[in-house]
Amino acid sequence: MRRGFTSTEMPETKSIAVLLSGRGSNFESLLKASRTDALGGTVSLVIANRPGAGGLEIAQNAGIATALIDHKRYASREAFDRDLAAAIETASPDLVVLAGFMRILTPEFVARFENRLMNIHPSLLPLYPGLNTHQRALDNGDTHAGATVHYVNGELDGGPPVLQAKVPVHPDDDAASLAARVLRVEHQIYPEAVNWHLTGRLSFEDGVLHKDRQPVPLAGCLWDGDA
Ligand code: GAR
Repeated sequence: MRRGFTSTEMPETKSIAVLLSGRGSNFESLLKASRTDALGGTVSLVIANRPGAGGLEIAQNAGIATALIDHKRYASREAFDRDLAAAIETASPDLVVLAGFMRILTPEFVARFENRLMNIHPSLLPLYPGLNTHQRALDNGDTHAGATVHYVNGELDGGPPVLQAKVPVHPDDDAASLAARVLRVEHQIYPEAVNWHLTGRLSFEDGVLHKDRQPVPLAGCLWDGDA
């Protein structure tokens, strides 16, 4: 007979806080993964910095706690980040997940959440940090594009990559068609990378990112569609 858990032995449910600025399709992929236990935890809080961000409505419909912290109401980046950090701490998340959060964070904020702050970026980092990644890949004549999940450090889109997915660039692509192809793999790799974090498979040893105790390649693990 299966032995039940007493309240003191219950395995702890891990949780994430999601920060977003817009439609929230990456957040939605995390939410879906949490419902099938593929995430290794739950989404306990969603914070947006823009009123009307679609991701807020998705969270509210799912019964997840939300907060709107409008950066335009703050005189400085530091003051905004202080309130943002305080709101995140109310949920005591195991991981803070940037999902289309279009604000540069202060070094103080990044240090506070060191090694528990992840981002997804729509390029094959270290190529094309910053904005307009798809147009830049097209302008450069690249044959492949993709997305990278990485831990956040003080450098813009420069923290250690965790997981990267590649997609082909088609000859007739424009930025929108390429973005749509990349977004489909974003929805697959972000839940996977978050799962690795929440289930303890990622670690930093002497400052080097490891997965399952093996050093992670400099561009991150390569997603093979079935990671
Ligand atoms: C995604 O493509 C994400 O990679 C990108 O914004 C989009 C958000 O879409 N993030 C960045 O460019 C961050 N530098 P979503 O709101 O539907 O998840």
